[in-house]
Amino acid sequence: MSDNQAWKEVSLITNGDKAEEISDILFFLGAVSVTFQDAKDDPILEPLPGEQRVWPNTQVVGLFEKGTDTDPVVSYLQHTYGDNYPIAAHDLEDKDWVRAWMDNFKPIKCGEKLWICPSWCEVPEKDAVTVMLDPGLAFGTGTHPTTFLCLGFLDSLQDMSNQTILDYGCGSGILAIAALKLGASQAYGVDIDPQALIASKDNAQRNDVADRLKVFDGNNKDIPQCPVVVANILAGPLAELEPSIAALCQSQGKLALSGILESQADEVIEAYSRDFTIDYTKVKEGWVLIVGTRK
Ligand SMILES: C[S@@+](CC[C@H](N)C(=O)[O-])C[C@H]1O[C@@H](n2cnc3c(N)ncnc32)[C@H](O)[C@@H]1O
Repeated sequence: MSDNQAWKEVSLITNGDKAEEISDILFFLGAVSVTFQDAKDDPILEPLPGEQRVWPNTQVVGLFEKGTDTDPVVSYLQHTYGDNYPIAAHDLEDKDWVRAWMDNFKPIKCGEKLWICPSWCEVPEKDAVTVMLDPGLAFGTGTHPTTFLCLGFLDSLQDMSNQTILDYGCGSGILAIAALKLGASQAYGVDIDPQALIASKDNAQRNDVADRLKVFDGNNKDIPQCPVVVANILAGPLAELEPSIAALCQSQGKLALSGILESQADEVIEAYSRDFTIDYTKVKEGWVLIVGTRK
């Protein structure tokens, strides 16, 4: 039985093509928000800047205010789409949804001393090196296995003092900021997404390292060569970018690459073996980290 005091959800599982249309209908019928969710765990890897791609099986979820009678919404959708898309309607548990969302994020330890911590949490270790970072628009809050692997690599470097580091595909700036917190004297972040460059600077500011982070658009010709380079992009672009990335890594410098699925690792290793000796690889949840030394 429906509770008049509860928030309500009406959802449909549809193909990507119909998702926008159904979203418009839900808003038209009074939804206060509509969200798209991945109905079948089909990851969308690397949408282009500004591009909005939806999953081939998208769950469209309309949220309705307390007391809304959602029966007419369900009837309208059934009348319009018949049995094509499974429709569900239910009451939402009454709780603080912002609090619930925040509870999903906890401090994460990446290696021996490095922690990534949301601003509303505290790191449980006294001598921790902490990057304060909230989940936001640009990729990279430490929870993705590829980011975690790159952070572990940075944490494992013996002495970062007086080192410069290049974070190619910086996203939130998490890797550059972690390197600075670990003692690097200067970091450079590169990205093709202007939003990522803004997020990186903002996050550096929050971590008091903005004076040591410089960001560059991917086409910039003045990106300096560094003794440490990290690039967490994707296998295809990484293989294509090999000449640029190799040129930006100093002789005997260290390189860490991720964003690579296990099935793609050989292709990337082959591309980078031209200019790098491969030192080791590591795997987490099907994603690979490749670490090498510039010849
Ligand atoms: C998977 S995110 C990684 C973010 C962060 N470095 C991390 O490790 O969590 C990849 C980033 O690479 C950027 N990117 C993709 N292709 C690029 C290219 N050709 N040049 C520079 N950046 C690129 C994307 O815009 C995105 O911000």
